[in-house]
Amino acid sequence: MIEFRNVHASYDENTPILRGVDLTIQDGEFVAFVGTNGAGKSTAMRLINGLLKPDSGEVLIDGVPTTRLKTSALARRVGFLFQSPDRQICCSTVREELLFGFKATDRLDGEAERRVDEVIERFDFKADADPFLLNRGTRQLLALASIVVLEPPVVVLDEPTTGLDFRECVKVMDIISRLHQEGATVVMVCHDMEVVADFAERVIVMSSGKVVDAGPTFSVLRHPRVLEEADLVPPQIVDLSLALPLMMPSLAGTPVAAANTLSEMQMAIEALIMEGVK
Ligand SMILES: Nc1ncnc2c1ncn2[C@@H]1O[C@H](COP(=O)(O)OP(=O)(O)OP(=O)(O)O)[C@@H](O)[C@H]1O
Ligand SMILES: [Mg+2]
Repeated sequence: MIEFRNVHASYDENTPILRGVDLTIQDGEFVAFVGTNGAGKSTAMRLINGLLKPDSGEVLIDGVPTTRLKTSALARRVGFLFQSPDRQICCSTVREELLFGFKATDRLDGEAERRVDEVIERFDFKADADPFLLNRGTRQLLALASIVVLEPPVVVLDEPTTGLDFRECVKVMDIISRLHQEGATVVMVCHDMEVVADFAERVIVMSSGKVVDAGPTFSVLRHPRVLEEADLVPPQIVDLSLALPLMMPSLAGTPVAAANTLSEMQMAIEALIMEGVK
């Protein structure tokens, strides 16, 4: 479990960034952090992996404050994908890159080598390739693979799909989704509300260093005040279900106006057609 208790944080004393954040993330959840640029999302992620410590308040991982956890213990528990993969990649071959996390946490053994080779095959990487010569999407996949290979119980992903094309985005989200299905807690910062709607179970909305809303994905993404405050564009299907009743008032209060997913919208429209036929 991850808990923030009245967390205040900053990079220098004169500029408060997080201003009293309280939140809880349960084991096995898939949670998305959303909000405008500069809201403090990446700062919150850095507090989870212990790169940044709170000025006051506490960040607890399984009940233990990050201030009392060693970096290596935190690194075993929390896999972290930076907002830019280039901040993450440091080795001269793909294989070394994938082994790096095991070396850093003192776990380099035969089992580690076996897991690395398995991941190279699964991701269809070339073991001797130079990571810096790979294209942006493959570098992002490598950064993600270097977390996957360590099998951490918690993964924190700062904008994992930004800058990727549609196919790369699908690939990356498939991997993240599989991690979640295998039991990992997934905490993801994401600006793409379609991705958030497709994958996250719960959304935490940040604005100006505070949590302004949190709840099940669709109840948050249907909330006009929250959408406006955090400058969010809801996923198209929610947008449509909010807009349709305005254009056709007879749809207000029908399941069409409450649809959160494409299949819910289809079912609601089919039901209306059937009613019309009767
Ligand atoms: N290393 C740093 N040193 C000083 N200030 C920083 C640093 N990193 C972020 N900030 C400032 O902290 C505030 C919050 O930044 P943060 O990166 O947490 O926002 P964000 O919600 O992740 O934004 P984005 O969506 O643009 O990634 C911003 O005003 C930013 O300028
Ligand atoms: Mg950020």
